[in-house]
Amino acid sequence: MLTKSMKIVNNEILLHNESLQTYAKTYGTPLMIYDEDAILDKIHSIQKAFHSRSLKTQIVYASKAFLCKYVASLMSQQGLWIDVVSLGEATIALNAGVKPEHMIFHGNNKSVEELKFIVNHSFRYVVVDNIKELKLLVEYAKIANTKVQTLFRMNPGIEAHTHEYIQTSLLSSKFGESIFDQELIDEVMNVYQTNSEVVLNGFHIHIGSQIRSAEPYLKAAEVMMQFSKKIKETYHIDINTLNFGGGFGIKYLESDDDYNLEDVLERLIRTLESINQTLQVGIKQVLIEPGRSIVGPNGVTLYEASQIKKTFGGKQYCLIDGGMADNIRPALYQAKYTIKVVNQVESTNQVLVDVVGKCCESGDIIARDIMLPANINNDILIVFSTGAYGYSMSSNYNGLLRPEVLFVRKDKVSVAIKRETYDYIEK
Ligand code: LLP
Repeated sequence: MLTKSMKIVNNEILLHNESLQTYAKTYGTPLMIYDEDAILDKIHSIQKAFHSRSLKTQIVYASKAFLCKYVASLMSQQGLWIDVVSLGEATIALNAGVKPEHMIFHGNNKSVEELKFIVNHSFRYVVVDNIKELKLLVEYAKIANTKVQTLFRMNPGIEAHTHEYIQTSLLSSKFGESIFDQELIDEVMNVYQTNSEVVLNGFHIHIGSQIRSAEPYLKAAEVMMQFSKKIKETYHIDINTLNFGGGFGIKYLESDDDYNLEDVLERLIRTLESINQTLQVGIKQVLIEPGRSIVGPNGVTLYEASQIKKTFGGKQYCLIDGGMADNIRPALYQAKYTIKVVNQVESTNQVLVDVVGKCCESGDIIARDIMLPANINNDILIVFSTGAYGYSMSSNYNGLLRPEVLFVRKDKVSVAIKRETYDYIEK
């Protein structure tokens, strides 16, 4: 589960020849470290795989996975666009220097403040979630005397296997409008046909999270190509763009099957090219919005583990100096992680423990029933693959401060986010 720039020497994990213990000592714990070289490699391999001669392709980084100014500018420098889902995310990306024309504005319940902001900035696309929002957008665009380029979020009814909370594309999902809701589609298309302030370029879908096979995407490609053709023919609107969202899974445990994202993307692009050609759909541009697959495996969290506490009942707990405040995923989704002691990667004397955090909650568990060295005494633990939806879903629960975040490229260390101080949480 090591990142690309990590290796094990004498039972200890090094990042670019530097001991992770040194990072922990220098910057404190909990500490998040991103392997920037590995992130760049991943971006480049995704760009290479999702490439076509007949279609324009664009990778849009789903910033909800992890966003700060450092990340926004890193992604932007690599030619990625940024997907933002709120004025908050948009502000971070804009402040990092990302141009609105390289941003896609999402959100399933955009506020009036957000809609007004949208009509005053030329975002490349606004993804419209529903008919009411579309009508409001027309209203505000009229006032601002502007034209808004949109994609409309459709729900293709494809179920990709994933945790219930992160399923997004079932018929009863709160996101988008169903491709089967003919009456509503009529109404939506009528708004587009009669209001030049909103331009329908195409459709957006997002079929779920942590999807680790090509089939759901290939099915979605077929469904959305057919749907686009139908809309084009029925309403005479130039549908030229399809955005397939994100959801590409990663490996969290050694025992997770190997799956190759680049293969999935190549199959997806070949399928799109072929259907576009056979059905003469006239799609010109296809987008994807990976988040987790870019940053997830390439970020880790270091904690200090004070001890292994033995209970009267026999259960043993490894106590760490962070927990659900910086990583809610195990508590929320029963997510599983790989954990090691950084300088005892292979240890013969191991015990069965739950790794638990500092919060006053029995559910503050980062990993259940894993084997760790029995002699833990203020040692540094590494939790692998915490780069996505860790920091971005973190909180100050129990008055805990968010960790420092480092980006390491070759031997250059950048503090992307400083450790919070108590001033920050003072109300
Ligand atoms: N595009 C849209 C419209 C999305 O809703 C999402 C994720 C993405 C792109 C990026 O998906 P990714 O490639 O990162 O899977 N908090 C959950 C994940 C929720 C994802 C929500 N939408 C977790 O920790 O697993």
